[in-house]
Amino acid sequence: MSAAPRGILVTGAAEVATLAGGLRRGGAQDDPAIAPLGTAVACLGGLIVAVAAEPEARDALAAALAAIGASPDAYDVVDATGGTVTPGLVDPHTHLLFGGTREAEVPLRQRGASYLEILAAGGGILSTVASTRAASDQELLAHGRRWLNEMLRHGATTVEAKSGYGLDTATELRLLAIAGRLAAEGPVDVIPTFLGAHAVPSEVRAAHPDIAAATEAYVSTVIAEQLPAVAAQGVAWSVDVFCETGVFSPDQARRILRAARDLGLEVRLHADEMAPSGAAELAAELGALSADHLGSPSPAGIAALAAASGRARPVVAVLLPTVPWFLGQDLREPARELVEAGVPVAIGTDFNPGTSPVPNLPLAMSVAVLRLGLTPTEVLVAATVNAAAALGLADRGSLEPGRRADIVVWDVPTHAQLPYWAGADLARVVIAGGKQILVRTR
Ligand code: NIG
Ligand code: FE
Repeated sequence: MSAAPRGILVTGAAEVATLAGGLRRGGAQDDPAIAPLGTAVACLGGLIVAVAAEPEARDALAAALAAIGASPDAYDVVDATGGTVTPGLVDPHTHLLFGGTREAEVPLRQRGASYLEILAAGGGILSTVASTRAASDQELLAHGRRWLNEMLRHGATTVEAKSGYGLDTATELRLLAIAGRLAAEGPVDVIPTFLGAHAVPSEVRAAHPDIAAATEAYVSTVIAEQLPAVAAQGVAWSVDVFCETGVFSPDQARRILRAARDLGLEVRLHADEMAPSGAAELAAELGALSADHLGSPSPAGIAALAAASGRARPVVAVLLPTVPWFLGQDLREPARELVEAGVPVAIGTDFNPGTSPVPNLPLAMSVAVLRLGLTPTEVLVAATVNAAAALGLADRGSLEPGRRADIVVWDVPTHAQLPYWAGADLARVVIAGGKQILVRTR
């Protein structure tokens, strides 16, 4: 018989940023919903039971324990004195699972080669595809555990994980199954996304006279073979396409994502990462969950996302500002313009071996403040409620009764300091799915 669950009471914080109230856009993105001083957070059985003045929260927890037949004092107290309490962070965009590393591309770029030139020459994504196909399940699992643990230590309790380094049906399915195993293992919740249309694999390039013919042939394979297998096995929540000039066109992305919709899957896009191609417009047209990157959307693309922001379910702009920073590009995502146009903005790491080996979401938040001009509150909203909305998840991203018990106690007195101490290890306690994971003594 398993032991009765114990409760958790988080008390004494200098600041509790609840983020209550769901997805935010426009001026509301700058509202952290700070609870009154003296607020405690009570959790039981993986859910938040109360966010209230400490005596009330204690009473609510005792009542919830009594209701399940447990002793009313069967709870642990997490001392948050002097710290800031927020929801667990949600990283809405990563390429978690891959074999090999690509540090050799850094000096190539320093000598002037561009990211897309390295990809066109068979490097970049395609070199990671070769290493990933060669990696065993055990190696990929160990890699996933290592980097999820690192993300958790920086406060992320939910991490989206894309496939896309297999590019054949068997390896794509294997990557999604491994993401599912990591989710089942916990403590970080992993949300798998199918990204078969990440690049055209070398064997398909070799079998066709030119890249255009190869790309068309591969799009047909994604639609006819990969997508039905992914849907039949139920291994992904959503489908993504790298829609970019020189990779997959908006027309090809539209065909793939419509097929995904027909199979009951949600859709999202790598949109206009480096040049405007019409991908942001396509995300709005399809009512995608998110349009990601947006390093270089056209004015029409921004306008289309703004028009979509009035819908009950807007398209979330997921910005990944460590990418141009890591690639040494001057490009800056138009974050202020998006916020001012009323588009809900989220922030992710884009963790991947080529453009962002960054397993640290608070660092991405720092870069968003320093390079994109977002405020500390806007980036906290972007990495919690808005990131959860980008994944279609309404059960997390805020501290409210009934939400998942994903909570971080940070070693700073206000959330305004989270992006300020750029790169620092600030998480003192992380509670993921109601389990207290990391305790750092000061
Ligand atoms: O999000 N843009 C496409 N995919 C990744 C990079 C993948 C890679 O270079 O391995 C990205 O930047
Ligand atoms: Fe990406």
